[in-house]
Amino acid sequence: MSDPVSHWHTEHANFSRLLDILEKQLDAFHGAGQPNYDLMVDIVSYLRHFPDLHHHPREDAAFALLAKHEPGMEIPLQRLRQEHRVIAAAGDDLLRTLSEVTSGAVIARAAVEAIAAMYLVYYRHHIASEEKEVLPRAAKLLTPGDWRAVAAAAPGGRDPLFGNESEAGYRELRRHIALERERSRIPGASPPHRARSAERLSPNALASTDRGSATPPPGVCGWQALGARGLI
Ligand SMILES: [Fe+2]
Ligand SMILES: [Fe+2]
Repeated sequence: MSDPVSHWHTEHANFSRLLDILEKQLDAFHGAGQPNYDLMVDIVSYLRHFPDLHHHPREDAAFALLAKHEPGMEIPLQRLRQEHRVIAAAGDDLLRTLSEVTSGAVIARAAVEAIAAMYLVYYRHHIASEEKEVLPRAAKLLTPGDWRAVAAAAPGGRDPLFGNESEAGYRELRRHIALERERSRIPGASPPHRARSAERLSPNALASTDRGSATPPPGVCGWQALGARGLI
């Protein structure tokens, strides 16, 4: 059954899918392949917008409420709030660098790789920390009123990639996501990237990856959808 925490998991699983695809492009730096810079721009552009404008503000609201219920969590929650700002700044840096590359600027591959790898590691660690330290406590401590306040913290969030009314600009990225999904269904053909990132997430996060039923209605983010349906 859908609930705010399972939607929270689902959004993390969506972001992790994108980080997996980004990692695959990074691997091309080490092989003979050519990284798909346009695809990398799409990934970071999405992560810089939907999560930074909707997912993270709702988390900030949830963290503040959670700290009231459990004051001992105040410091780790403050650190996670700070990480939202770092992720946004790192995303800006990476997006700017990738945009320069796609505009024809000559930038050393190693420089692009270092910025992208740092973003990848930092983002994955952030998600894993929330899955391990925050979501289980939020599931236990936040009240229906708290969840309504969380949904109201960043209303109107249309997901331009994972929502059914996705923006045309993300068509190519959606195609890659669908391809990765198909590959993961072929026995013995699970992408190593997915497995590696999955190991970094908690068992709860892994469970959420398969919660297809938790997908929000067209173009509507999870927590907002729950509020509209009176589930929170
Ligand atoms: Fe976060
Ligand atoms: Fe998060």
